[in-house]
Amino acid sequence: MSAKSKTTVPLRWRKDVERVLITEAQLARRVKILAREIEKDFHGREMVVVSLLSGTVMFLADLIRHLNLPLRLDFIGVSSYGLGTESGELVFTKELRIDVRNRDVLLVDDILDTGRTMSRVLPKLRALKPRRLKTCVLLDKPGRRVEKVRADFVGFAIPDHFVIGYGLDFAERYRNLPFVGVLHPHVYKEVSKHICRK
Ligand code: PRP
Repeated sequence: MSAKSKTTVPLRWRKDVERVLITEAQLARRVKILAREIEKDFHGREMVVVSLLSGTVMFLADLIRHLNLPLRLDFIGVSSYGLGTESGELVFTKELRIDVRNRDVLLVDDILDTGRTMSRVLPKLRALKPRRLKTCVLLDKPGRRVEKVRADFVGFAIPDHFVIGYGLDFAERYRNLPFVGVLHPHVYKEVSKHICRK
């Protein structure tokens, strides 16, 4: 396969996806390197990986299979309310079950955007008194930040495009794309129109 074809949007998605921002190969390479960085930082000690539902699904699966240290895995369900492209009101849909007191914790999310999600989740986790708490995100959009929050491990810093794929959705769709792509503006304009008419 040529380098060009890897960055070309597959025919099936061309109507919805404007372009490929991060290819499958780039994701695979970076996730492996991130795992090495995390392993080093945690000195091979057992960790609890806390992942935020649902956007982390692909990133998490790939990241933890490269983490060569003992770990336990748990999830927090948190979602911004609504179908739009703006992060709205936050709703917790699942609480943590593993006791993280005195544990080394890695919080994993797919994207750090305005920072509202992280800035709500971090104090909740800190209150559970972990020994160490580090954060890891696949994508970081520093240009969109509203809250003062940063991640310790970042896969890719990206500009302000509406991105989908590799777990990231628009109105719960496109999570299954194996690459990170830029959503065609006409897709979210259509949906916003539909919501406004209701
Ligand atoms: C997305 C994403 C992050 C959050 C980032 O979650 O998964 O958790 O938004 O945005 P912020 O920095 O502006 O808070 P979403 O609420 O869309 O839920 P999802 O993971 O189920 O898609």
